[in-house]
Amino acid sequence: MTTDDTSTASTVQYYDELGCWVVWGRQAAQAALEDPHLSSETLEAANLSYLPTDMHEECSHLIETMRRWFVLLDGSRHTTARRAVQPLFSPRRIRRLEETIEVIVDEELDAYAASESHDAVAELADRISARTIGLLLGLPGSDHLSLHRWAKALTDFLGTSYRRDCAVGAQDALREMGEFIKNAPDEDSIWSRASGSEWDRLATSSMVMFGGLETTVGLIGFSLWHMLGNGLAPRIAAADTDEAAKEVVERALEVYAPLGHVARIATSTTELGGRTVMEGDLVLVSLTGRDLFDTPQLPTAPTTHHQGADRSDHVAFGFGMHYCVGAPLARITVAQLLTGFARRFPDATVKEVAWRKNRTFRGFDRLVLDLDGASR
Ligand code: HEM
Repeated sequence: MTTDDTSTASTVQYYDELGCWVVWGRQAAQAALEDPHLSSETLEAANLSYLPTDMHEECSHLIETMRRWFVLLDGSRHTTARRAVQPLFSPRRIRRLEETIEVIVDEELDAYAASESHDAVAELADRISARTIGLLLGLPGSDHLSLHRWAKALTDFLGTSYRRDCAVGAQDALREMGEFIKNAPDEDSIWSRASGSEWDRLATSSMVMFGGLETTVGLIGFSLWHMLGNGLAPRIAAADTDEAAKEVVERALEVYAPLGHVARIATSTTELGGRTVMEGDLVLVSLTGRDLFDTPQLPTAPTTHHQGADRSDHVAFGFGMHYCVGAPLARITVAQLLTGFARRFPDATVKEVAWRKNRTFRGFDRLVLDLDGASR
């Protein structure tokens, strides 16, 4: 089974069995994401209401920290926190970091070539995402194993908030992340930029770091899979610029969105795609272009690549007020990786691919490559 192109149809549907709305298709998703009656303050409805009540006290650090994550806030609390860290993500700063990102990518490709397993998730994507995000956030010496262990604990909690062990694991991860972030020596770090109380600053720093890790790993895996599966490496290797690689990244974002959906909750009655959404209703906005519940089977082969089409109108990075601040970093990192990879290993092929179980933070658990294409 391969992935078909994402549908352009927009739909808003209520699922009785789940007790929530699902919105999909670019137009409907964008309308939902800019609807002022749909709030991002969903922690209670989408997560805490599933956590056993006797755990709320034991997990108060987790709960109070996540209540300060600006991705889960509206209005001035969101904008104040976002504006404070925005300079770290400015186009000028990202351009200045481009050369260093290239060095990181080169070093990691060297290490990957010498690795035993050639698993592009553990040996390449985990390492590159941790190092580039550490660089951007002024957290030098970030150890990729710890960063991804923390990020995985948080994704597990967000996906299965009813599980006590996941809540405890996420709380431990947040505490460890806090210690690591506070001790960052860099003056231009996320910790020094974040606004508010010490707790607010820790919440912002941990959320920004977490926000980029598993998503970038997902995008790296999907982009490599798409490039190799469509035989695009020789063309990317031969190109003088990153343009061909950038196009693959946009195609990967369009058809495999690393973040499957975001949640919103209606603060008053509103209309979406001709349907009436009532105050208090939970709305899941799909970023994949598809219904969240219509594809029980995961694809075994990448979708066909169409060269030259305009891909940038997907919603993989969200839309509106909460549009991803890390999008330029993710795009540059992955495009540089594809170019560097294609130049070194133009004949590489995919040997083994295993999808992550998590349907929200989408990606591969393993992506084993054959670097000289012997398995073709
Ligand atoms: C392929 C990689 C990435 C994908 C697919 C992705 C996806 C998204 C999406 C869909 C949102 C919107 C959330 C919403 O509307 O509720 C978002 C927000 C956010 N992302 Fe990313 N992201 C990626 C990489 C990154 C990176 C590298 C960073 C930071 C280093 C980052 C930090 C954030 C932050 C802080 C927000 C919250 C923005 C706000 O609420 O104003 N992301 N991301």
